[in-house]
Formats: sequence, structure tokens, C-alpha cells
Amino acid sequence: MGFPQRVFSGVQPSGNLHLGNYLGAIKRFVELQARYDCIYCVVDLHAITVWQDPTELPRAIREVAAAFLACGIDPKKHIVFNQSQVAEHAELAWVFNCVARLGWLNRMTQFKEKAGKDRENASVGLYAYPTLMAADILVYRATHVPVGEDQKQHLELSRDIAQKFNKDFGQSIRDKGYGDTFFPLPEPLITGEATRVMSLRDGTKKMSKSDASDQSRINLTDDADAIAQKIRRAKTDPEPLPSEEKGLETRPEADNLVGIYAALTDTTRALVLKQFGNAQFSTFKTALTDAAVAKLGPIAAEMKRLLSDATAIDKVLADGAARAQKLAGETMKAVKDIVGFVHS
Ligand code: TRP
Repeated sequence: MGFPQRVFSGVQPSGNLHLGNYLGAIKRFVELQARYDCIYCVVDLHAITVWQDPTELPRAIREVAAAFLACGIDPKKHIVFNQSQVAEHAELAWVFNCVARLGWLNRMTQFKEKAGKDRENASVGLYAYPTLMAADILVYRATHVPVGEDQKQHLELSRDIAQKFNKDFGQSIRDKGYGDTFFPLPEPLITGEATRVMSLRDGTKKMSKSDASDQSRINLTDDADAIAQKIRRAKTDPEPLPSEEKGLETRPEADNLVGIYAALTDTTRALVLKQFGNAQFSTFKTALTDAAVAKLGPIAAEMKRLLSDATAIDKVLADGAARAQKLAGETMKAVKDIVGFVHS
């Protein structure tokens, strides 16, 4: 409805980045640059909803920023920054805490999973996490949000918040000359092969930085030897690969490796199976290793180079934050008008 198209997304700096972060998120962030104005954020405010060691957090923030740049995000044409440098995120999140309903947040499955049995001891921030996420997106009035399946529910909540704000403050929005609706309803962008990368040790579990076994994931900083060794040891089943996608349905490990290969080489599972149908895993794993090393090797090297100069990364983040703040400041000023706060 007349909102300029804009992409926003965020990655948490809370541990090592792995292949799942790359194929599920960052690779698509890179592709979207050709079609949209993009804002990519290292969401450090989200990271502290669970404990982060202050001696490690700066490195984790810079590592996500380095991964963005090493994978091909252009911080000059688009915006790259860390969330805590733009105070408007937290400011708008407070207003949204007063728009969102307890009942809505109580339905969030990620909170239930993360809080676990000891819910009384979870941080208030972990509970309010989705209202901050809504603020991240809407403080830029972003229209499109590349996210994984696991964030779909949070994005729906962002839409609900935008809609309720537009409705509750409808009269004020019109009176103050902001048109009929102030916030767009942001759309998820969920596409492509292997948006969900699974553990190399268990094809039914997501690849995760919190998995105790480092063999379960390929880290973006792994060298060629580590990648080869992890793929060689990846769990499979005794059958050769099927030649049709249907044959993957009951074989989660085979499905995962084929999906990873398809995503790494920008093709589809069907085409991979055309090539490797009836092949033994040993053959396929060699090809997969080559594809992974070809794609990830240069990224790991570039990340290492970038991380050796923290000052340069910090400059990119500061420059991005200044540009983001300009946009966010405009939205926040209008929100203050609409809500009825007195401001200068
Ligand atoms: N919650 C997202 C995740 O864990 C990260 C995130 C924070 C995000 N704010 C966002 C993603 C805004 C998209 C848009 O993956």
C-alpha cells in the first residue's frame, strides 16, 4: 500500500556461525541486494536475552559483521550495523510492549522452547524478544523480511503489532497527516533449497551452535580439512542415493546432504538426484566436500582477514549505525506524534 520496498533482517551474535546461518540466511541476504534496499543488523540486544559473557560478546558481534561482508554484503550500498548502536530499536520496542497483548506472547513457541522447564528463571527480555524484533523491522518500515521457518511466528506477531498500532492510533495517524496506515505489514521471504540445514549427526535436528558435538555442524571459520573430515563422518544410511526426490522422504540424513549440495551449487534437489541417483555416499560426499570447500574456503579466509582488524570492522558498524539512525529517528519522531508524546 504505497510503502517503499525495503528488506530488514538480523543475525544474533551468540556463538559460532555455521553452514545453517549461511545457507538459511546470509546467502539470501546477499542475493536480495540486487532487488531491494537492505538493512542487515547484528542483533546484540537480542543476544543478551540469554547470558553472554562480556569478554566474548564483542568478538561475536564482529564475527557476524565480518561474515556479512565476507559473504558479499555491500555495506556502502546497503546498511550493516549492530542493533545496540541505534537506540530507537529499544525505544520503539517499549511502545510495542504496550501494543502487544500478553495472550499473543504466551503463544510464542520459541519462548516455550528456550525457557524450558525453568520458566520462572527466564529473563523478561527473552519473553519480550518478539516485540523487539517487531521494532527492528518496523522502525525502518521494512516490507520484506528474509527469515527461517523458525522465525515465521515472530514475523506474524510483527504483523499483528503493526496492524493493531495502525488501528488503535488510526484517528491520530490520519489527524497528523500520516495517511491511513503508518506501518506496513512486513512479509516473510522464505524460499530456496536447504533453508533448514540439519545436524550432520542427526538429520531430524537443526544444525545448531549449541549442539555439544562440533562434528554436527560446519562452522564458517572451518578450514578445508575440517570440512572434509566432518562431511566424511556425517551420518548416512546404507542405501545408495535415490534418483527421485520422493526417495528422500524417509531418509532425513540423505535429504539433508542433498539439500546442502543443492543450496551450495545453486540448484535443486531434483537436479542433484538426476546427477547422483544410484551413487554411493562415498562418491557423493567427495563431490559435496569439493562444493563446500569451494564456497566456504574463500569466506573463511576473508573473515579471518577482516577479523584481524577490529578497528576497520567497528568503522563499518559505526557508519551503518549512523545511517540507520537517521531513518529510525524519523520513524520514532512520527510515532511520538501519533502516540501523543510531547517532543521537540
Ligand atoms: N530472531 C531472529 C533469529 O534468531 C533474529 C532477528 C532479530 C531478526 N530481529 C530480527 C530477524 C528482525 C529478522 C528481522 O534468527
